[in-house]
Amino acid sequence: PSLEEILNLHDFENIAKQVLPEKAWAYYSSASDDEMTLRENHAAYHRIWFRPRILRDVTNVDWSTTILGHKSSMPVYISATALGKLGHPDGELNLTRAAAKHNIIQMIPTLASCSFDEILDAAQPGQVQFFQLYVNKDRAITKKLVQHAESRGVKGLFITVDAPQLGRREKDMRMKFEAEDPSVVSKSGSEPVDRSQGAARAISGFIDTSLNWNDIHWFKSITKMPIILKGVQCWEDALEAYDFGVAGVVLSNHGGRQLDFARSGIEILVEVVTKFKEKRGLTFPNEKFALFVDGGVRRATDVLKAIALGATAVGVGRPFLYAFSAYGTEGVEKAFEILHDEFQMNMRLLGARNLKEVVPEMVDVSNLQSH
Ligand code: FNR
Repeated sequence: PSLEEILNLHDFENIAKQVLPEKAWAYYSSASDDEMTLRENHAAYHRIWFRPRILRDVTNVDWSTTILGHKSSMPVYISATALGKLGHPDGELNLTRAAAKHNIIQMIPTLASCSFDEILDAAQPGQVQFFQLYVNKDRAITKKLVQHAESRGVKGLFITVDAPQLGRREKDMRMKFEAEDPSVVSKSGSEPVDRSQGAARAISGFIDTSLNWNDIHWFKSITKMPIILKGVQCWEDALEAYDFGVAGVVLSNHGGRQLDFARSGIEILVEVVTKFKEKRGLTFPNEKFALFVDGGVRRATDVLKAIALGATAVGVGRPFLYAFSAYGTEGVEKAFEILHDEFQMNMRLLGARNLKEVVPEMVDVSNLQSH
């Protein structure tokens, strides 16, 4: 189908399934074990309903925002997804170019197919990019990566904390990658790579299983970039992160690719906001500590639910991968255009003229709890 026929972000997934090489589809779409968390991520949004307000002048609505002090045309950022070249020869550069046009922030993955500098070089002057970090057992390598990112103007360090080991993604494990496959390159340098069980296993051997809270002090000593922990899954850890003085957390289960039966980010958001108020007297959104959510976000209505509940912004992963896999950079631009249209319409129908007016009273979460 032509790009004009794409009506929503789900459409990109259906098309990607048809056009992607089998290995790419297996790596992008898979999640761990029985994929219960993958399904729950989107399903959780289906348990939240709106309480719209009427008779407000909604001629002009504005869904632009600020993320860690940087302007963004919408409260959505591109979350880090590895191995962009499995889906398209230009890989992550598709995201960089589309993000530039639409003033969206891109989070660059440690395991990008394009080199880090290539992705930085493809950005426009002033374009904001974040960096997602997998921590290497060899801390000298990690230190170099982090300090290089900072020197190149990266504005935020998202340390992935939900992946001491990568989850069992069985669809992906059935695929064998050849040694010469250019899209699956080991970034670890030091380790022999096992290519017999899918892309995820081939690239992840270098990740440090010993990463722990004490390391956060070390990260703060080697960089001035704001540090955000990606993959926090309960209020206890969110509070700990705040007390450690990091800039925020991403409430995320890694798109269902790590612990199966982990809860959805949106469900965690509700308990985190409740406990912060109770224990630290903080309300959200908040300048001092950002709450991000990702996983299963496919519609502006999903985003607006997270915003109403206190999120600063949400991350989106697979839809943008599917968009560039099928249509290159233009596909990602189309995905942003669809979201912009959805924001305008849904904020009008909700009776909110800007994101400050998207308040907790606009959502009914009485059916949200999964138990
Ligand atoms: C990811 N994600 C991810 N996260 C991370 O911290 N480092 C990584 O290298 C990757 N790689 C990756 C690859 C692919 C193919 C996917 C689908 C996801 C997780 C990602 O940042 C984000 O948490 C989820 O993708 C959000 O869920 P949705 O939007 O894909 O449902």
